[in-house]
Amino acid sequence: MLRVTESVNKVLLAVCVAAGLLLASGLATAQNADNSVDAELAERIKAGRAVFENRRKGNCLSCHLVIGSELPGNAGPPLIGMQARWPDRKALKAQVYDPTIANPNTIMPPYGLHRILTEEELDVLVDYVLSL
Ligand code: HEC
Repeated sequence: MLRVTESVNKVLLAVCVAAGLLLASGLATAQNADNSVDAELAERIKAGRAVFENRRKGNCLSCHLVIGSELPGNAGPPLIGMQARWPDRKALKAQVYDPTIANPNTIMPPYGLHRILTEEELDVLVDYVLSL
């Protein structure tokens, strides 16, 4: 009887250890996935910021204030609280692609329509703007 209990205990222990390992590896995988998504987004935001600030690309600072920016212009509204104000990413991209749709008399250049920026540049730019 004692031997049976002992071997049952061993099996239970083995099952617990296996479950623990599975759980730990599952958590580790989820964690890695999150970290790499964060890292990828951080890279895109960085690339978008470069497009935003580059005078030969977005040159957005010449008209828009961004918190912490140096010598911003004020021809356009300050870009703050963007995620709350632009919950629809597509609408934000469309605004940068062709602002004349919302306002035919705008002074903001149509970055996509006039091929000032590429699709890839527009996409990382939108990631950056949504981080503001
Ligand atoms: C020549 C000035 C000018 C430049 C350069 C410019 N904008 Fe604008 N932008 C404006 C003006 C003015 C508005 C106000 C709306 C309008 O005129 O239709 C505006 C509006 C916006 C809006 C919507 C308003 C809001 O508060 O959310 C966004 C987003 C935006 N601009 C992003 C950008 C980005 C990103 C760039 C660079 C790729 C850029 N703008 C470059 C002038 C400019």
